[in-house]
Amino acid sequence: PLPPGTDVMADAEATARAAAEHLIEMAESAEGDRVAICLSGGSTPKRLYALLASPGFVERVPWSRIHWFFGDDRVVPWDDALSNVRMVREAFGHAAPVPSTHLSFIPSDAGAEAGARRYERMLRDFYGAERLDPNRPLFDLVLLGLGSDGHTASLFPGKPAVAERDSWVAPVPEAGMEPFVPRITLTVPALSSSRSTLFLVNGAGKREPLQRLADGEDLPVRHIRSNGRVRWFIDREAAGL
Ligand code: 6PG
Repeated sequence: PLPPGTDVMADAEATARAAAEHLIEMAESAEGDRVAICLSGGSTPKRLYALLASPGFVERVPWSRIHWFFGDDRVVPWDDALSNVRMVREAFGHAAPVPSTHLSFIPSDAGAEAGARRYERMLRDFYGAERLDPNRPLFDLVLLGLGSDGHTASLFPGKPAVAERDSWVAPVPEAGMEPFVPRITLTVPALSSSRSTLFLVNGAGKREPLQRLADGEDLPVRHIRSNGRVRWFIDREAAGL
């Protein structure tokens, strides 16, 4: 069985389009003048981000209200090919009218430990409190992926960051899979403080972690909750159909 809240879609393009529609819907339904969206990294969401900046979508995204955050990043310079900042910048290109003050990149110039503390400070300042209020989610939408080894954000199975319940952000000195560079990741409580959570999962390489989940294995994703719904957009290939 696939995770509860799963929609199986024809292919990767269909999951990206559905995710773009969901993002616009969540942004439009957000109360107040700020919408907080937490982006995932890796290769899967690149098409989604490019779509948001493309004709048909770019006019409908309420760019001036959205504040963009990251669920994790590799501790490398932002212009490095491994950086999620670079990935998002390339995908948005010049077409996405993102005010520069609406982009909160994970600091990468001071190492994993200091970067984690600085990013946590940025998030708390944005949220306006030192503690997460269960009735007031930090994010309107959290986007996540699933690694072929079963990690999500940079919560690698069996690593200490998975068990962190006090900090919002954790350093990950040793990644569980390549590229073996240190990471900084949001923790389970921060990722769970959301109005909506969406996992995007594409391709045959994701059959194995989905199977491990179906077999009841205690992968990090099992601990992630949402104030609203946790949904999964999975393409037929990943679903093994
Ligand atoms: C990262 C991610 C990570 C990602 C998975 C899937 O920066 O590595 O945020 O959690 O979602 O590794 O990555 P792919 O989409 O490349 O398979």
